[in-house]
Amino acid sequence: MNFELSETQKMTRETARQFAVDELAPTAEERDAKEEFPHEAIKKLGELGFMGMMVPEQHGGAGLDTVSYALAMEEISRVDASVGVIMSVNNSLVCYGIEAYGTEEQKQKYLVPLAQGKLLGAFALSEPEAGSDATNQHTLAVRDGDFYILNGIKNWITNGYNADVVLVMAATDPSKGAHGISTFIVEKGMPGFAPGKKERKLGIRSSDTVSLSFQDVRVPAVNRIGDEGFGFRFAMKTLDGGRIGIAAQALGIAQACLDASIKYSKERKAFDRPIAELQAIQFKIADMATEIESARLLTLQAAMMKDAGQKFSKHAAMAKLFTSKTAVRAALEAIQIHGGYGYIREYNVERYLRDAKITEIYEGTSEIQRVVISRDLLK
Ligand code: CAA
Repeated sequence: MNFELSETQKMTRETARQFAVDELAPTAEERDAKEEFPHEAIKKLGELGFMGMMVPEQHGGAGLDTVSYALAMEEISRVDASVGVIMSVNNSLVCYGIEAYGTEEQKQKYLVPLAQGKLLGAFALSEPEAGSDATNQHTLAVRDGDFYILNGIKNWITNGYNADVVLVMAATDPSKGAHGISTFIVEKGMPGFAPGKKERKLGIRSSDTVSLSFQDVRVPAVNRIGDEGFGFRFAMKTLDGGRIGIAAQALGIAQACLDASIKYSKERKAFDRPIAELQAIQFKIADMATEIESARLLTLQAAMMKDAGQKFSKHAAMAKLFTSKTAVRAALEAIQIHGGYGYIREYNVERYLRDAKITEIYEGTSEIQRVVISRDLLK
């Protein structure tokens, strides 16, 4: 596998890095403390083409590849993982889902403004009783002429409070299990559709996470994505790509931990010398860097396989499993290197730990990634 980046990929990474340093870094900590949604930053990311990176230009996107997307996600999340997840859901779950499986009419109406960052999207699969067990859908969609009537509750929906458009998975034929689920495009403001209260979270606190309720919501049948019964496969295929986005998000957090640890260990003195001269610290830094580099290779490999049109479910799961673990370990080590200063808010490393943990949970827990990997190996 050739890991030489193209000029476009390098330029995309540089643009994201600059944006993160100039626009996100000065306010990331404050937004986290206030649990404040980054409206302005998301608007600017849209103008830069970062909200629909993999969408072709004729559908409002930047027409870039998955590798460029992963590189940008890493740079954004290195500074602000909350912005990272908002961007990830819009790009790899919502825009990709409509681009890959939507009708031309759906693309013109929804994808173009979503990819341009003029609308924000959310992806609603999880329910109070359907997390890892995602086929256990209780949200029902019953056909009524040219409409479907949706009833149910969705949980843990990233972007759900601020989203203009939500891709909703619902059972159209509960007797068929995974094959009786369909996907619908639901718009904010459709009567009967309302977001619940915002969850108070450990990390990624400036992104919003809510439940969504559907009470007799009339959704036009033309808003169904793909055939009836395609919804679970749609969710799984879309999540395969989403997991590359979350791996890249975790990678950014891990890299931020390493950057902070190197800086601090050169500045902080103990026993009359910088702690960077102590082997205990040097070994931690060496281990962190080695794990991060391995995680980066796994993530880029999965992205390259997706770009090459190869099967990549297992590789995306491996990338997410390993990179999320790397991020949590790197954050714990970064705090240890910072000692007491790592445990308070003055340095960002406590935020990195809080943000890192969710990457082992959403878009499929680490246990689910192991299910996906082992099923592929043992089938
Ligand atoms: N691509 C295509 N088809 C797939 C697929 C994939 N990656 N994975 C499964 N399928 C198909 C299967 O082939 C099967 O079809 P057949 O019956 O025709 O063979 C069908 O889907 C059902 O699959 P399984 O029998 O494997 O279903 P399962 O009940 O055993 O579940 C699972 C499999 C991997 C555990 C799955 O339920 C899963 O991934 N769970 C985790 C859900 C998840 O990731 N949720 C995240 C929520 S979204 C989120 O977090 C976003 C956010 O806000 C940040």
